[in-house]
Amino acid sequence: MLIARTVAELRQHLRSFHKPAFVPTMGNLHDGHLNLMRMAKQLGDVSVASIFVNRLQFLPSEDFASYPRTFEIDCDKLRSVGCDVLFAPDEAELYPQPQTFKLQPDPALADILEGQFRPGFFTGVCTVVLKLFHSVFTHSGGIAMFGQKDFQQLLILRRMVEQLAMPVNIVAANTTRAPDGLALSSRNGYLSPEERAEAVQLSMALKQLAQAVRSAGMGHLDVAALEAAAMAGLRDRGWQPDYITVRRQHDLSPVTALSGDPLVVLGAARLGKTRLIDNLEI
Ligand code: PAF
Repeated sequence: MLIARTVAELRQHLRSFHKPAFVPTMGNLHDGHLNLMRMAKQLGDVSVASIFVNRLQFLPSEDFASYPRTFEIDCDKLRSVGCDVLFAPDEAELYPQPQTFKLQPDPALADILEGQFRPGFFTGVCTVVLKLFHSVFTHSGGIAMFGQKDFQQLLILRRMVEQLAMPVNIVAANTTRAPDGLALSSRNGYLSPEERAEAVQLSMALKQLAQAVRSAGMGHLDVAALEAAAMAGLRDRGWQPDYITVRRQHDLSPVTALSGDPLVVLGAARLGKTRLIDNLEI
């Protein structure tokens, strides 16, 4: 695996390829990332990962400083799945000047759900992903892989490439889960053993809500009451939920009556100091 520390080195390594398949990450890799890498190996003529903990997408109160940085272990994991090129810039390389130009996603998508509780998060994500895409897809278009766990991020990045006519095909992979059903996340490492045992309750709550919506069929559906009951259930177990909600998949708009549109149940909740998110398509 070649490791590029600068954009120039990365471009040099990729200059003879026509279809890079790219997996952007913030490191502390888990099986979900490795599954994306395995897919990338199948889809591109060169597989590329990046590791960059992006300061722009953290609130001052969040865990930027303590976000787990496990570079050598991550490199071993990437080698084990045959990653060809790793782009691992430092901050001075990716943000040589204060990043005063930022990419502002549509507030209708970006200021709700995650964006409501983490203001500016998607501006930070879009800005860094745009820079990473410029760095990887310099000589040709290609493929970029993202996990379905970050459903809202995936939707916003799809809109970004469509509306900015980027020659990048976004491919989504199913959420990778632990045997008990917990969605894999770098932040799961913050959980104490007791919290880890409890953590699956978030996906259970989403499953129950999805089931209730499914069984309501096309009949009457009091979505707000079901969402409130799901949040109350988690609160009773000691969680602090930010949201548990049923939305339309294509634009994340709220659902008041069933119309046959594909739906998704999304949730974010804090367990102790750890904030977890998950979702389930209906
Ligand atoms: O999903 C992530 O890990 C990050 O948001 C991403 C896409 C690598 C941008 O920093």
